[in-house]
Amino acid sequence: MPKLPRPDPELLKTLKTPLLVVFGLALVVFAVLGWRGRESGKPPVQFWNDMADQNKWKPQSATSFYADGRTARMPVDGTVPWGQDVQTPDPVHAQVASELYALEQGPLPVDRTLLARGKAVYANFCTLCHGAAGDGQGVTTQYGMNNPPAYTLERLRGATDGYLFKIITEGKGQMAPLAGRIPVDDRWAAVAWLRVLMRAGHASLDDVPEAARKELQ
Ligand code: HEC
Repeated sequence: MPKLPRPDPELLKTLKTPLLVVFGLALVVFAVLGWRGRESGKPPVQFWNDMADQNKWKPQSATSFYADGRTARMPVDGTVPWGQDVQTPDPVHAQVASELYALEQGPLPVDRTLLARGKAVYANFCTLCHGAAGDGQGVTTQYGMNNPPAYTLERLRGATDGYLFKIITEGKGQMAPLAGRIPVDDRWAAVAWLRVLMRAGHASLDDVPEAARKELQ
């Protein structure tokens, strides 16, 4: 390798301060603006492919792995696809929806099984905003959720099952529609549980079994 000529030490000394200033300024500019490269349309060079390229099945292709020879799988039983039910905007479903909304009482018999289901649905989907007791004090209210109403309100106690079902289905205000996440029967179960909470919020001592009254008094 040819030897590089050594720079003149005197020249370096004179240039030292201006060079430092220029580098310093450049550093400040990069620090503030950051180094923004241009976008590239080309895929990045990969030294290790990691998970970016991996063996996969393309949709609609064949495989010998599954008995039916297809890579595509059916959804697991009980899966609720988005828009499957009353929210689907086709006229038949819209009519079904309005019929359900008009119901005075839910179509399912209210028994222990339904209430247990409703309690579980409520715990999973409603407690966070409405509170376990339905007083509208769920944890999200501490983070800016506009106060959900207490179910004990006269207006809601007087509402039909169909109306409550509609609220769960379509949402209201800051409450998102839950139709896509809660199957129809589970929504009716939740309505039944709302009735329990409403009743509990207006309970009197006479509702408590005689034996347990003393404890409360
Ligand atoms: C993300 C928070 C949130 C979740 C989750 C949520 N709600 Fe609500 N809910 C609200 C808010 C906020 C309101 C008040 C809406 C308004 O009046 O603007 C409300 C209102 C209601 C009302 C009263 C409607 C009326 O006419 O005043 C009912 C009944 C209700 N929710 C039931 C439920 C049920 C049942 C669930 C669970 C299946 C649920 N909500 C899940 C936030 C939520």
